[in-house]
Amino acid sequence: MMKDEEIKKLILAEKKRQADGLEMIPSENHTSEDVLSAMGTRLSDKYSEGYPGMRYYGGCEVVDQVENIARERAKKLFGVDHANVQPHSGSPANQAIYYALLDPDDTVMGMSLFFGGHMTHGLRVNFSGTYYNSVQYTTDKEGYIDYNEIHSLAKEHKPKLIMSGATAYPRTIDWKKLRAIADDTGAWLVSDISHISGLIVAGEHPSPVGIADVIMTTTHKTLRGPRGAMILCNGEKSNPLKKPTRTKENIPSLIDRAVIPGLQGGPHNHQTAAIAVALKEASTPEFKKYGKQIAKNAKALAKELKAYGFNLVTGGTDNHLMVIDLNNKFISGKQGEDALGKAGITVNKNTVPFDPRSSFDPSGIRLGTPALTTRGMKEKEMKQIAVWIDEAIKNKDDEKHLQNLHKEITKFTKKFPLPS
Ligand SMILES: Cc1ncc(COP(=O)(O)O)c(C=O)c1O
Repeated sequence: MMKDEEIKKLILAEKKRQADGLEMIPSENHTSEDVLSAMGTRLSDKYSEGYPGMRYYGGCEVVDQVENIARERAKKLFGVDHANVQPHSGSPANQAIYYALLDPDDTVMGMSLFFGGHMTHGLRVNFSGTYYNSVQYTTDKEGYIDYNEIHSLAKEHKPKLIMSGATAYPRTIDWKKLRAIADDTGAWLVSDISHISGLIVAGEHPSPVGIADVIMTTTHKTLRGPRGAMILCNGEKSNPLKKPTRTKENIPSLIDRAVIPGLQGGPHNHQTAAIAVALKEASTPEFKKYGKQIAKNAKALAKELKAYGFNLVTGGTDNHLMVIDLNNKFISGKQGEDALGKAGITVNKNTVPFDPRSSFDPSGIRLGTPALTTRGMKEKEMKQIAVWIDEAIKNKDDEKHLQNLHKEITKFTKKFPLPS
């Protein structure tokens, strides 16, 4: 057992915080004990720069097997020729994709952070908006992706790469429309499915496999694995030793060379093992049921919240998340996040399309159902959670009321323990 009492106390405090409240940040989840166990192992001690069978370090015979299993499981689950499971997380994975396919100052197009995209999709202060010439697309007034706008921007700016996927977008993404735009304008198409990869596995969102040139997913969101990321693609078997030209067939080699030696050193072998465990879990019928329930819960919650007068961006959700515009409730996103936090409901403040407020205190909040669904909650519980959300927002300045709500929620969560 851990001897560092100071850190141990905090680890237990975080466990209690999660157990006693409702985690509704849509990019978060609760991993299984098996995934957690894999993370805390001696695999963490081992250096293994390179790839299985081609390492710069000795003693890699065991971690080679771990990485091969993770790669094979990823390939099978998503139906791709090649999987790189080494990126330490989603942002470095996207960086590797840009590095593989672009030169500095090339033009990239991605969805603006302020409309639901991720920082790495071309935000000015991010590497993607600094080292590349970034053109950002937005949404229409209701918050739907505007494919016509993307097409006309692509015709005008001729990007080398179109980044698709999002971090706060509640609707289905039409990969085929994006492919047609990329083909028409000569761009690579990258699909960042970080948020929705678990839903794709469950058949709740169309897969970009066979449509996008490169696919990236983090492993810790709806996929319910450890923090990490994978880059998936089709093409010839990777040969990271040979400098490949930038052709479709060479994408696996381009990606592998970009991850190491391009950007990273040693892979995190404990993380790779935990990804392998999560991928095995994700290939079971139970996981498909789980993914379908995430979406059912999100729809049920959206319906209830609308009945309480909450204004949802796009009017609802097709996936695991929703963005609420709080303007009609006369409360800002930050105030909303704080009030809900005091009641034990963790969400995050978020901009809404064409937000008149700043991103430090935007108009909205973003919330979702992956973690609640992991705890076994269903449509019935979503009804109750909508009541609490409404209560907390209405009583944002009443500390006592919010504390009482937290107590009530903590009592309720005892019926839905964290995975163990
Ligand atoms: C769509 C998308 N891409 C990439 C990332 C980056 O992942 P990480 O935080 O693991 O770097 C995120 C994280 O929220 C994301 O939502």
